[in-house]
Amino acid sequence: MRRGFFVTFEGVDGCGKSTQAELLANRLRGEGRSVVVTREPGGGTIPEKIRALLLDPCNSEMVNECELLLYLAARAQHVREKIFPALEEGAIIICDRFQEATFAYQGFGRKVPIAILRQMNSFATGDLDPDLTFIFDLPIERAFERLTSVKKPIDRLEANGPDFFKRVRNGYRSVAGATPHRITILDGTLPLEVLAEKVYAIMIEKLKDTLIFKIK
Ligand code: TMP
Repeated sequence: MRRGFFVTFEGVDGCGKSTQAELLANRLRGEGRSVVVTREPGGGTIPEKIRALLLDPCNSEMVNECELLLYLAARAQHVREKIFPALEEGAIIICDRFQEATFAYQGFGRKVPIAILRQMNSFATGDLDPDLTFIFDLPIERAFERLTSVKKPIDRLEANGPDFFKRVRNGYRSVAGATPHRITILDGTLPLEVLAEKVYAIMIEKLKDTLIFKIK
């Protein structure tokens, strides 16, 4: 029986989602809740090896089909090895990116047909949908400013130009518009603390409907 709660954090590179995921995890842990923080691509030995392949800037010759299959391969392993077991144990799983990234990056960014993506993604996830998804939306120029201010080498995906990231941003907005009951879009330009409060409030409102709200 599925007892836990699965929440995902999404947005273009540089949107601030990882910081927000960490802040939410700390707050929930402070309340004594069982929280698992994980990420995609990644979250286990095999998915982290696939992540290294995907993000290595030396792999610039990687074709879109190979890229898509690698993201989905990493997800298939991650879901079965880590997410399903944590859900069964009743944990709150906070995942930094999940399927919405595939729709935004591979679907809108790389222009892989969405109907194909849906089917392949369902196969990879075993039909697991998040219970709640946050998308942090901000202009691409702001996201680029943030990326260049952090002194970290640019990975293979980040090396794409502004047109690619504009399509990705539109992709995220489009999936959010199509799934309003599950996906909340937030203004990523808001101050960090303001955003963290909003995220926490929405999370608690959703958790209240679940069994694990009362169990710590
Ligand atoms: P991260 O740096 O936020 O961990 O994400 C790694 C990169 O992989 C980021 O540029 C988004 C990209 N990505 C996809 O293109 N498709 C996917 O399905 C996922 C999960 C990530």
